[in-house]
Amino acid sequence: MTNKEKVAIVLAAGIGKRMHSKVPKVLHKICGREMVLYPIDAAKDAGFSKVVVVISDDIPKEVFNGVEVAYQKVPLGTGDAARAGLSAVKFFPDGASLLVLTGDNPLIKKEDIESLNAFFEKGKFDAVVLSAEAENPSGLGRVVRDGDAFVKIVEEKDATESEKQIKEVNTGIYIFKKSVLEEALLHLSNDNAQGEYYLTDTLYYLKAHGKSVGVKKMERVLPIYGVNTRKELAVATHIIQSEILDNLMLKGVTIINPETVSIDYGVEIESDTVILPGCLIQGNTKIGSGCEIGPNARIVDAEVGSGTHIQFSVVLDSRIGENCEIGPFSYVRPGNELSNSVKIGTFVEIKKSKVAENSKIPHLSYIGDATVGKNVNIGAGTITCNYSGLQGHVKNPTFIGDNVFIGSHSTLVAPVHIHNNAYTAAGSVITRDVPEWTLAIGRSKQVNKENWVKRRKGNG
Ligand code: UD1
Ligand code: CA
Repeated sequence: MTNKEKVAIVLAAGIGKRMHSKVPKVLHKICGREMVLYPIDAAKDAGFSKVVVVISDDIPKEVFNGVEVAYQKVPLGTGDAARAGLSAVKFFPDGASLLVLTGDNPLIKKEDIESLNAFFEKGKFDAVVLSAEAENPSGLGRVVRDGDAFVKIVEEKDATESEKQIKEVNTGIYIFKKSVLEEALLHLSNDNAQGEYYLTDTLYYLKAHGKSVGVKKMERVLPIYGVNTRKELAVATHIIQSEILDNLMLKGVTIINPETVSIDYGVEIESDTVILPGCLIQGNTKIGSGCEIGPNARIVDAEVGSGTHIQFSVVLDSRIGENCEIGPFSYVRPGNELSNSVKIGTFVEIKKSKVAENSKIPHLSYIGDATVGKNVNIGAGTITCNYSGLQGHVKNPTFIGDNVFIGSHSTLVAPVHIHNNAYTAAGSVITRDVPEWTLAIGRSKQVNKENWVKRRKGNG
């Protein structure tokens, strides 16, 4: 590491009482992604290539995907959390800028950090903080000034009535010289309304000890400067969701009525696809070009080939080829591989199945653990009986060859193999394999009892 390498400490421990949740605050998701990952990205994008995130031990470190973590055992306040972070960067040289930011501020952007850093470097400060003008400052730390000069940051709970009137707030983003922060943290006290070690008090200490402390006011105004409650989570989600949708639209995706559509961070959609109202597209999903998705589709962790239509359906963890028709009202459960030009139609549930090109399951079927060849037509109401009651939870496979025609309301009792070019008659219960080119009829013969009805009614 060079003297110039920049380091960021992201504070992400603590319980987040105001969320009223069993889930640690920074793990609450915004557009499918833990909120803490947004400020981590902002820091990295602004050139803080080395990031240490301070967490409590109820947060799995895997969330951070390789970003270094440091533990704060007991949540004693942001100042104590910064101390925990510093212990992980002890060996880094002092010349570098040390960014400290809260992990509950997903709306912070690379540009905000860059401008604070430029201010820090240009003014040769020992410490700087990013402030902002807040419409509703309640709950946030206020920047107290004497004229223009910075005096201190006071937390809402410690503020006097007149300090509470101040609208300039602390965004929770700071840059320090490392040794200066180390020194100030040694002198923190928790003698305040919350009994916590406040990181904000370092600035007061430094100022009082002849260090240069700068306050940079953020150029833009945000509706929130931290997510403490579910209401603020919804505000942040709304903003990040609009950014995701705007980006997709700018890259050539049509979104009709964007306010009705939710698309997770990281979802990829190619140009000329149309997203109709009421869609939720989540997780690790990739959608090709020229698709029509919706109205009302939920697609999670799926790959969808170009030209495919999905309407009024749920698709989970499956791969769907090009030019397929899914829905209305299909339930594509996890583990399917559907090839090109496949149709999964109305009230069809399909799971862990492979369907080759040009095969159709148009109506009212359950297909599970099946391998279906190409050009197959599966008649309405067909059921694969894959569940073996006798063998516990074993699921038996069904194999259906190419060009097979399954008559309506067939019951395919697995394990069973219906070979290429075979037919099953409507209403059959198929319990044995069907050889190639064979028609299987598995139903009792119809008996017509003439005049039976008349006799029954006593007039025959
Ligand atoms: C903090 C600031 C406040 C500022 C606001 C901006 C302090 C004392 N106050 O208040 O001036 O306006 O952020 O959003 O710093 N954390 C830990 N360990 C702890 C406590 C908190 O890691 O012991 C982490 C949390 O995960 C959170 C961040 O630090 O991401 C901020 O903590 P929070 O309790 O939300 O601080 P605020 O009260 O919002
Ligand atoms: Ca906060």
